[in-house]
Amino acid sequence: MTYTLRDLKDTVVAITGATSGIGKATAEQLVELGAKVSLGARNAERLHALVEQLGPDNAVACPMDVRSVEDNQALINAAVEKFGKIDSIVPNAGIGIYGSILDHSDDELRRMMHTNYDGTVWTIRAGVPEMLKTTGSGDIVIVSSVAGFRGGGDEAVYAGTKFAQVGLAGALDRELREKGIRVTAVCPAGVGTEFAVGAGRVENDERFADWLVADDVAHAVVSVLQQPRSVRTTVWQLWSMGQQS
Ligand SMILES: NC(=O)c1ccc[n+]([C@@H]2O[C@H](COP(=O)([O-])OP(=O)(O)OC[C@H]3O[C@@H](n4cnc5c(N)ncnc54)[C@H](OP(=O)(O)O)[C@@H]3O)[C@@H](O)[C@H]2O)c1
Repeated sequence: MTYTLRDLKDTVVAITGATSGIGKATAEQLVELGAKVSLGARNAERLHALVEQLGPDNAVACPMDVRSVEDNQALINAAVEKFGKIDSIVPNAGIGIYGSILDHSDDELRRMMHTNYDGTVWTIRAGVPEMLKTTGSGDIVIVSSVAGFRGGGDEAVYAGTKFAQVGLAGALDRELREKGIRVTAVCPAGVGTEFAVGAGRVENDERFADWLVADDVAHAVVSVLQQPRSVRTTVWQLWSMGQQS
């Protein structure tokens, strides 16, 4: 039997955290397949450079902070204004601060909780009405983490935000499936991105050689979107062969 994946040509996808790592790799892979992307993150210069790289006909930049309800609406509006619709959203923006819960400042913890969890909720709240209105279907692919199943001892609050994303995805799947929207949590182990620098690791750390790369995770996101509409993924954990689960 020949199994046919969905053609993503001209589908429109909004991605948060698009200036680096997994979000940027996802945008690149999607445009390669003929999709259009609306790109959100705080660093406007990097966003505009990425739009130039991908081609202004294929991508639109929306400098935004996922902690802001209005900014998330602007990301969705940018997609609809430029491409006429929104098919799918990828809430991916996130930050991780390592160490004991007692080591962090109140502000650091608040920033992480608001970016990782609240940000995900605000992106979805902005995206779903437009997805239902303009395409009547689509995907929400949340980039969570394996820390959303079992957190390490130096990342308790981060892990809590990732558990929250996995829980949100599961419950939203139950809410939105009947409306035609699929919800997936893509949950990678360590990925050698800017995010992973810290906790004793430096840029181009040799330990990253055994880790996942951003393109591995981006490909998982793309694969979820490519599944026939009769199939849904819900949760996808990814590990490299060198990583202990
Ligand atoms: N790398 C890992 O080991 C790993 C493992 C498991 C899961 N993850 C998850 O993967 C996701 C992406 O991380 P990554 O590894 O690709 O890291 P990354 O390269 O550091 O990318 C993070 C992205 O999030 C954006 N961002 C951060 N705060 C934001 C805010 N308040 N508003 C809007 N955008 C914001 C950053 O852009 P600006 O600075 O321009 O805003 C950047 O584009 C995160 O949710 C992370 O938890 C990562």
